[in-house]
Amino acid sequence: MDGFLLHLVPLHPFLSATSLLLASLALLVFYLVAIAPRRLMIWNVPGPTKLDSVLWGDMGRVINETTAGEGNEGFLQDFGSTMRMTTILGGSRIISSDPGFVNHVLKNSYIYPKNYMTTQFLSMIMSGKDGIIVAEGDAHRRMRRVLAPAFSAESTKRLTPIFLEKSYELRDRLLEVVRSTEKMENEEGKGADVEIMVWLSRATLDIIGLAGFDYDFNSLQDSTNELQRAFKQMFEATNTLSPTMLLQVLVPWTRALPTKSSLALALSKNTIERIGHEMVRVKKKAALQAAENEGKEDVVKNLLEGRDVLSQLVRANMASDLPVSQRLSDKEVVAQISTVVLAGFETSSTAMTWLLYALANDSTIQTKLRKELLRVDETTPDLDTLNSLPYLDAVVRETLRLYSPVPDTTRMCSKTDVVPLSNPIIGRDGKEIKELIMDEGVTLTIPILNINRSKEIWGEDADAFRPERWLDPIPPAAKAYEAVPWSNLMTFIAGARGCIGYRFSLAEIKSLTFALVRSIEFSPVEPRLQYRSKSSIVQRPIIVGREEEGYQMMLRLRALVKREGLGG
Ligand code: HEM
Repeated sequence: MDGFLLHLVPLHPFLSATSLLLASLALLVFYLVAIAPRRLMIWNVPGPTKLDSVLWGDMGRVINETTAGEGNEGFLQDFGSTMRMTTILGGSRIISSDPGFVNHVLKNSYIYPKNYMTTQFLSMIMSGKDGIIVAEGDAHRRMRRVLAPAFSAESTKRLTPIFLEKSYELRDRLLEVVRSTEKMENEEGKGADVEIMVWLSRATLDIIGLAGFDYDFNSLQDSTNELQRAFKQMFEATNTLSPTMLLQVLVPWTRALPTKSSLALALSKNTIERIGHEMVRVKKKAALQAAENEGKEDVVKNLLEGRDVLSQLVRANMASDLPVSQRLSDKEVVAQISTVVLAGFETSSTAMTWLLYALANDSTIQTKLRKELLRVDETTPDLDTLNSLPYLDAVVRETLRLYSPVPDTTRMCSKTDVVPLSNPIIGRDGKEIKELIMDEGVTLTIPILNINRSKEIWGEDADAFRPERWLDPIPPAAKAYEAVPWSNLMTFIAGARGCIGYRFSLAEIKSLTFALVRSIEFSPVEPRLQYRSKSSIVQRPIIVGREEEGYQMMLRLRALVKREGLGG
């Protein structure tokens, strides 16, 4: 039967319904990809004109980047400081490093909530939208207000002894590894090659447990406990974005399907919530008891006892000056436990990993830092003392500039908005754009890492690790990002959705550096390995040519103190 006759044969009803469905789908895709983007006001913004893929748009450049930040950098280089790209199925996104744009978005965080993918991914890991990192609008404002006292400068000072205690525990464990390796190889003083990232992760997990909710995960001592196992299960279940997980992120009802990772996630969440509720019950009782002991009827926010984040949060939530309508439910309080662990554990360990890598690769900087640290007489200095060390401060800032653990952040525009640009651009119509009209529903990316590494801001040596730059005044071009007060760096961003834990993190990183660098010398392993950073929420190192081994950082560690000298 030739093609013409085939057309005359009446189609089976099922076939005609399927054809109709397929034709409608094809039309929908055509509309989404070819027509809808052209109807947006941001269509005029320069960007690629030919799509790499109908499904992925121009995302391939970001997804397939070999080093964190490379995709965004390529776009900014090719199209200028404010550009437009196409995302999945014709979605439109602005990437901008323009100070005016960035300041405006950060100052208007509630107009620019997290985008659909991020919110869905985070609420899948955590308990729905009860955690501060996922909540939006009024719920977010309430949480931020109740959590703020626990992350204040005063609270961070009180937590610093915990940071130092765990930092010394890590140092001692590392020195044990060095000594046993030397003994085994019968070469005293040679040192040992150590995968440092896994140790730093253990230390930061222990720190977040103790400082976060007075719970010792004890992971530095290789011991496992129920909560630690639950978090491990949670991290493993969500570490790689498999196709099934991507489907579950995009289509919420598919999360009910019993896949291996969704079952593991459900189990871990149950355990964390059960233990969390018990912790909150105990903290509430302690807060009431402490207030009673002090002869106060009310729970005041600044009782010294119970300095951990959860105790402070519980107290702030019970304080009489907080209107009942502003209080968090027990479910919301419990959700902050996994939120704080997820937000604060790998970010800090990643920052520390890159800091030690940078020191290992520059012995002059390392020696200069060690000299400054050894001039401190006490072994457990307070936070004011740590903050008074200029070179330590410079090394920490430079690490967080060059190796910002979070490489970028993506938001969505919730209503049509006018955004002023510091550096006007030329639209596709050839006219100058000084103010960008953002359409409702489009997404935007703030390329944290690219702004931090910009040569226009930080000079020709922006790609180099040079702590000395922090001993000079901050370049005026960096100051243009005035919405970001901490060092004018994008690392923690700022505003209502900025990192609430940035003081905590800085004190933690300084404590770890203080304890480790005074007693241990870090250098590259031989033969030298080449690293690149790979981005999956945070950017972590992998060895070039050994990518299948996963994230790691091998360093040579040599003890600088004799056993009896430990403790300083
Ligand atoms: C070097 C370490 C850290 C870096 C680079 C970092 C960076 C960031 C960034 C960029 C955000 C904003 C994310 C976004 O909206 O897209 C953020 C949010 C947040 N961070 Fe951190 N963070 C660090 C450590 C910590 C620590 C130690 C804690 C807690 C102990 C913490 C708690 C949080 C929380 C709760 C949020 C959500 C805030 C909100 O949405 O209101 N972070 N962090």
